[in-house]
Amino acid sequence: MRHLMSPLDFSTEELDRLFTLAEDIEKNPAKYAHACEGKKLATCFYEPSTRTRLSFESAMLSLGGQVLGFSDANSSSAAKGESVSDTIRVISCFADICAMRHPKEGAPMVAASRSSIPVINAGDGGHQHPTQTLTDLLTIRAIKGRLDRFTIGLCGDLKFGRTVHSLINALVRYENINFIFISPEELTIPDYIIEMLREKNVSFSEVRKLEEVIPKLDILYMTRVQKERFFNEEDYVRLKDYYILDKEKMELAKSDMIVLHPLPRVNEISVEVDDDPRAVYFRQVKYGVYVRMALLLTLLDSVDK
Ligand code: CP
Repeated sequence: MRHLMSPLDFSTEELDRLFTLAEDIEKNPAKYAHACEGKKLATCFYEPSTRTRLSFESAMLSLGGQVLGFSDANSSSAAKGESVSDTIRVISCFADICAMRHPKEGAPMVAASRSSIPVINAGDGGHQHPTQTLTDLLTIRAIKGRLDRFTIGLCGDLKFGRTVHSLINALVRYENINFIFISPEELTIPDYIIEMLREKNVSFSEVRKLEEVIPKLDILYMTRVQKERFFNEEDYVRLKDYYILDKEKMELAKSDMIVLHPLPRVNEISVEVDDDPRAVYFRQVKYGVYVRMALLLTLLDSVDK
């Protein structure tokens, strides 16, 4: 039985198979409409979510399965002090697979260690968000036709941004990726990631200004400054509008650069950019459903074997 805690849990060959399956699901949805009949997905979300929870639920329903779960820790027995370990043992009696989001780093890993069903990390604190990474990789592969040989700019909150940390971990396994980290001094990429890039001889640079580097980029990955990760309101207010991608900045970019964003967006991408064909963040949401359908099938298959 397999869980998904990190994008590195799948080899690049396994990821290739997963993305090929996701692309087939996109082209032939009817073929998969009953693939999970009789199966149940539990979504255990201790933190707010729109995309991740609902795309998991949409994915399971599109496969003919059923869903149950909670979307708020306060409406679960966590509010009465129940541990994640006990909760997953209980959920294992109700469902065949579980997607869990938790504010504490490592909580889904603890759940996986006590679970008798596959557990998917749907985001743990500022640590990892592997299914967002699968979504990002599938989007890049579908639009660019490859997962190697590009310069990617990651912009915004690179300190707390779990989507960024997961994506970097996944991309270092592909050839000739050049990272440009664009963040304010207070929200730079963590040291452990810089050390990992140095050890692996991966090309990277760190800058403060988006307009200086945007002409070099093949992919721009924008992120939100996350209010919920700040210890004080003053720092958040000072940094929240540090980067705003607008039409003027888009004019400096290559004609085939694509803009990704895990969403939700606050102010960091002006709505006027949405109509630019290079803005693919809403297409990215659709790829998130196909890749989660492929993931549910793959992990449930690992149980049946
Ligand atoms: N991208 C993402 O994780 O969005 P939600 O927080 O809405 O799930």
